Amino acid sequence: MDTLATAQPLATSAILLVGGFGTRLQPLTFQTPKPMLRVAGIPFTEHQIAKARAAGIKEIVLATSYMAEVFEPYFGDGTRFGIKISYALEEKALGTGGAIANAAKLLEHDGPVVIFNGDVLSSHDLKAQIALHRSQGADVTLHLTEVADARAFGVVEMEGERILSFREKMENPPTNIINAGCYVFSRSAIDAIPSERVVSVEREIFPELISRGAKLLGYVDTAYWLDIGTPAALLKATVDLISGSAQSIAFDELLAGGTYYENEGCLIARTAELDPTATIESGSLISNHVKVAAGARLSGSIIGEGARIGTEVRLSNTFVAPQSEIPSGFIAQNQFFGFSE
Ligand code: GDD
Ligand code: MG
Repeated sequence: MDTLATAQPLATSAILLVGGFGTRLQPLTFQTPKPMLRVAGIPFTEHQIAKARAAGIKEIVLATSYMAEVFEPYFGDGTRFGIKISYALEEKALGTGGAIANAAKLLEHDGPVVIFNGDVLSSHDLKAQIALHRSQGADVTLHLTEVADARAFGVVEMEGERILSFREKMENPPTNIINAGCYVFSRSAIDAIPSERVVSVEREIFPELISRGAKLLGYVDTAYWLDIGTPAALLKATVDLISGSAQSIAFDELLAGGTYYENEGCLIARTAELDPTATIESGSLISNHVKVAAGARLSGSIIGEGARIGTEVRLSNTFVAPQSEIPSGFIAQNQFFGFSE
């Protein structure tokens, strides 16, 4: 029997917001935009593209601005990733809403559009979120999650599944239920966003839609969720993927491909050369062609391609840029090495 849910169009299109400056991740983002930083060995965007594909998305537009030129050489037309990929460029950042309106012009399919913040690692069931949107005939369906401290996020008040208020970043949040940064938008809700000017979907569009009586629904769940926008969070994302507390299809594919192996909760490239007396621990990631000398101890750290780590070095929660060299005996904690402006 045909139900209302199946009568509504499928969501086969997505927009990925990848144009932010990644200010909180400097110096890592001086040379690389946040969504292209590697998490568990893969550019972050690749984790999200694999998630979109698994949920039935056929085409995705990357909404780019800051360092826009680095995405296309890596992702191309998407053939390698099993999804059609195109690129919308904002000469000047248009804000999250302006970016959506601008990118939507490139979509070829009809029907609802899934929008992703480009910096959220989430194991939530995207298919279930889309199904809720379709079955309820919503204007926008937001993925929501609960956090201990909601001040740095968009906060909602709800009645049942309905969102009654949305407020972006406030000192005294009325609830701990926050915007998790993945939305399903109906086409009419996208068409209502002004194009060609800076618009924030969080500060302007959501409050406005609510005040006009639009149907904004929340898909609330307790699945793994993390905004990777700070150095500590970026390290945590890699550790959590390796330990299995976070899930990613792209990461599963990387492991299946055999170029990396897992060892005691760490991820190590097969081309890396580790002295047998070196210790790699606590979710560290050792990239291709890295050399680690005798007695070094690397804990919860990310070592970029081709870097050389000297003897007896001690690094904890530290990022080492590709091709850089850490001299013997060096000791560091919560640091960045070799990331230039
Ligand atoms: N194309 C484009 N243009 N993308 C942008 C722009 C822009 O002008 N501004 C931001 N973005 C992208 C960023 O690259 C990021 O992927 C996403 O939009 C969200 O921006 P952030 O700067 O990371 O925002 P936030 O983390 O402070 O807050 C957002 O995410 C929270 C969840 O992590 C908001 O959506 C909050 O409401 C939400 O709770
Ligand atoms: Mg963010």
